[in-house]
Amino acid sequence: KRVHLIAAARPNFMKVAPLWHALTAAPDFQPVLIHTGQHYDANMSDAIFADLSLPQPDHHLGVGSGSHAEQTGNVMIAYEKIAIAERPDWLVIVGDVNSTLACGLVGTKLRIPTVHLEAGLRSRDRDMPEEINRLAVDAIADVLWTPSPDGDENLLSEGCSPARITNVGNIMMDSFELVRPKIEAAAEPAALGLPERYGVVTLHRPSNVDTPEALTALVEALLAVQATLPLVFPVHPRTAQRLAAAGLDARLEQGGVKLAGPLPYVRFMSLVAGATAAITDSGGIQEETTYLGIPCLTLRENTERPITITQGTNRLVNASTLLEALTEALAQPRSERARPANWDGKTAQRCIDDLRRRGSD
Ligand code: UD1
Repeated sequence: KRVHLIAAARPNFMKVAPLWHALTAAPDFQPVLIHTGQHYDANMSDAIFADLSLPQPDHHLGVGSGSHAEQTGNVMIAYEKIAIAERPDWLVIVGDVNSTLACGLVGTKLRIPTVHLEAGLRSRDRDMPEEINRLAVDAIADVLWTPSPDGDENLLSEGCSPARITNVGNIMMDSFELVRPKIEAAAEPAALGLPERYGVVTLHRPSNVDTPEALTALVEALLAVQATLPLVFPVHPRTAQRLAAAGLDARLEQGGVKLAGPLPYVRFMSLVAGATAAITDSGGIQEETTYLGIPCLTLRENTERPITITQGTNRLVNASTLLEALTEALAQPRSERARPANWDGKTAQRCIDDLRRRGSD
């Protein structure tokens, strides 16, 4: 069976890689890797492919950045040609980025059986473009692979038939386990000259970085944290543009925050695994810190990943509450809570089992 796998942006690559490897090893499947080109910088794309031992994609659509409509439309136009020419047996789309929606629309209209990996997550915040993508994709995909039981509950409450849903677990943990030896050997904290205790920061959500007011408040909050916990901040290209425009990169550096460019997967996970805490607005880092038992302070009003709060190490904070919440989190003993069910590095195999079961129905 031929399976189209869509990879587009940095957070997609660690969801696609375990499935690509498992499908390649399976005698009855042939994966076809398609990169839409939504992310294109070396450290946002190529270096992560190399870290995850992914080959060059079979197709590269070279779409690049643009407005939401431009990006979504350009991916649709380019992917439709390939989908018509190759007519795969399955299309797998992952996560919640614009390319996920674009390929989901193309695949379902061509009646190609379409699977959404990481289905059912809901922030209930439609100011987040990703939330619109999630709602739209889950409404049309044939099969919904959820990472946690809250995903199943959300889908059922929206009227999805249970037959469409399979809880496969969190595939990000498969990627971590796949390259754990490389992560443990990377010693990134030492390479960056970091002390024993440090915090790792990432920020890229439009709501945090796109207005100078919001960004300035966060920079001040980070500088207050820096006084007690030294920070390292690998900066996303979107955030780099905004920090530079407001002159805030210099202010962070003068305050002692160590700035770096975006890091490839292995180096970045080495940094997270060695950190005392993470401060972030990313979705994936909320999950990875829960998996690793590292306190995570999430600079958002809501999260589509509530299990990282109820069963993990995550807390929602804002610029005013960050320092206090961090102090409180660090004062608590390290969590001994069990990891969420099916966050075990075996999700890709459950995905394949589900494809086989559905293929023979
Ligand atoms: C997109 C995804 C978001 C994901 C994020 C991770 C959507 C709606 N959003 O966000 O869910 O968490 O990616 O990064 O799909 N840029 C570069 N080089 C690159 C990529 C982008 O310089 O390789 C620049 C772009 O020109 C743009 C900015 O960074 O100015 C933002 O790009 P992008 O990463 O795509 O961010 P989002 O669209 O915010």
